[in-house]
Amino acid sequence: MMFVFLVLIPHTMQTIATTCPNASRCVCDEEKHYAKCTNRLVIPVLPSYVTSLDFSRNFLMHLQRSTFTALEALKLENLSLANDNICRATSDSLNDLLYLRSLDLSRNPMILSVAVTAIMSIRSPFFSTLIINMNPWKFIGIGSTLNALCTAFNLTHVSLRYSYDTSLSFNEMSKCVVLQFFDVSKGHIQFLEPGFLKHIKELNLQNNGITLRRGGFFGRKSTCSFPQIEILRLENNRIRNLDNRLSCLDKLRILILDNNPLMQISTNTFINLPSLSHLSIANLGDGLNTVKSLAFGSTSLNSLNFSGNKFMFKSLLSNIYFDKYNIFKLVPNLTELDLSGNIVDTSDVLTTMLLPVKFLKKLWLKNCGMSSLPTDFFSKMPHLQEFVASYNNISAWDGNIVLETILP
Ligand SMILES: *[C@@H]1O[C@H](CO)[C@@H](O)[C@H](O)[C@H]1NC(C)=O
Ligand SMILES: *[C@@H]1O[C@H](CO)[C@@H](O)[C@H](O)[C@H]1NC(C)=O
Ligand SMILES: *[C@@H]1O[C@H](CO)[C@@H](O)[C@H](O)[C@H]1NC(C)=O
Ligand SMILES: *[C@@H]1O[C@H](CO)[C@@H](O)[C@H](O)[C@H]1NC(C)=O
Ligand SMILES: *[C@@H]1O[C@H](CO)[C@@H](O)[C@H](O)[C@H]1NC(C)=O
Ligand SMILES: *[C@@H]1O[C@H](CO)[C@@H](O)[C@H](O)[C@H]1NC(C)=O
Repeated sequence: MMFVFLVLIPHTMQTIATTCPNASRCVCDEEKHYAKCTNRLVIPVLPSYVTSLDFSRNFLMHLQRSTFTALEALKLENLSLANDNICRATSDSLNDLLYLRSLDLSRNPMILSVAVTAIMSIRSPFFSTLIINMNPWKFIGIGSTLNALCTAFNLTHVSLRYSYDTSLSFNEMSKCVVLQFFDVSKGHIQFLEPGFLKHIKELNLQNNGITLRRGGFFGRKSTCSFPQIEILRLENNRIRNLDNRLSCLDKLRILILDNNPLMQISTNTFINLPSLSHLSIANLGDGLNTVKSLAFGSTSLNSLNFSGNKFMFKSLLSNIYFDKYNIFKLVPNLTELDLSGNIVDTSDVLTTMLLPVKFLKKLWLKNCGMSSLPTDFFSKMPHLQEFVASYNNISAWDGNIVLETILP
């Protein structure tokens, strides 16, 4: 006779928690499907609604498959392992995160091959966003490294801020065909090699040492490097010359060029950017001495920030060139203009300069050394809604003169 004992162990799904393990230094947000834990040695079991886990600032050291056992029941899409003291990883470490879309490995003391090992272990078909800011690698060749990763994954968003590389070759990234957003700001890049990125929409190159050494950098009509780019950030670099540099970027809407050592802005510098709507070219330092006639010529431009350039908008200065009649002559759609932080002559220069800008809605003239406003100033700008002229030396104005034809 045999007795069969059927032992039913109540299956208390060990990997599903319904409440946030608060005692384990985590906070959770059910509405946002989000959890965050800090100062831990292991990843705890989390509520099943969690799809985004910020597990930065912990002590994981060694990534392996078992590191993520507690997450088995989750459909985790976003995972941050930033600042987790990771220095090693096994080649199956991220195998089980089958829904992963975005991974942040910033600020870990791991060498490049460890990072690549971890990333290559991802099996999720949705993986598309990679963030590794503040990595400790020197001279790795960002382009070729990314190219290898782009061969394995359809990366759409990549962020590698604060990198040590001094050069970046877009040409080496030919496999990154679906890349839309690329941030390599705040690094040491001096040399850029152009290359074709078919779907790139936003390129953040600010705060490097970039010079754009030659004309035609972004390509020509039929061979344009970034045909879909909409946002290009180049502020805080070493660009001295924009001549023939900005062309063929037909979709570019926003261009930021602040804080570059430009001395001259030539005629029609931006004319070949037919979608440009916002241009910021502020805080150029002391060197700017020439703004050629029609420098800002653009039918699409809505908003121009030319603040903080200490440029002398005054007639008849021998070392400064600008043309009050034509500086804003062919910028018909300009509605917002910031000229703060320049020196403005209020006799006739300001009025003459602004005369062609018929649709101006917002004008900033802060800190422009003005002691009065020109006679009949506002009547020339019938659409003006906002006018800021603080930090000047206008002790009083004669409303009857300045506002002459507006008031009844
Ligand atoms: C989590 O625990 C801490 C103390 O350990 C407490 O101050 C906090 O109120 C708790 N939060 C929740 C949501 O229970
Ligand atoms: C996941 O992260 C991306 C950015 O990496 C963000 O846009 C998205 O909203 C996040 N998703 C969730 C569910 O938090
Ligand atoms: C990338 O996208 C292409 C086209 O949609 C698809 O065929 C391919 O399987 C994807 N690759 C990966 C690794 O998901
Ligand atoms: C600019 O304004 C003109 C009229 O002055 C208009 O025909 C044109 O569509 C505008 N262009 C853009 C890009 O908004
Ligand atoms: C123009 O740019 C400067 C410098 O970046 C900024 O401080 C200022 O707010 C900008 N002006 C407007 C109107 O946004
Ligand atoms: C401001 O204006 C007053 C009176 O018009 C003048 O005495 C003073 O020197 C001016 N200050 C500056 C900084 O221009």
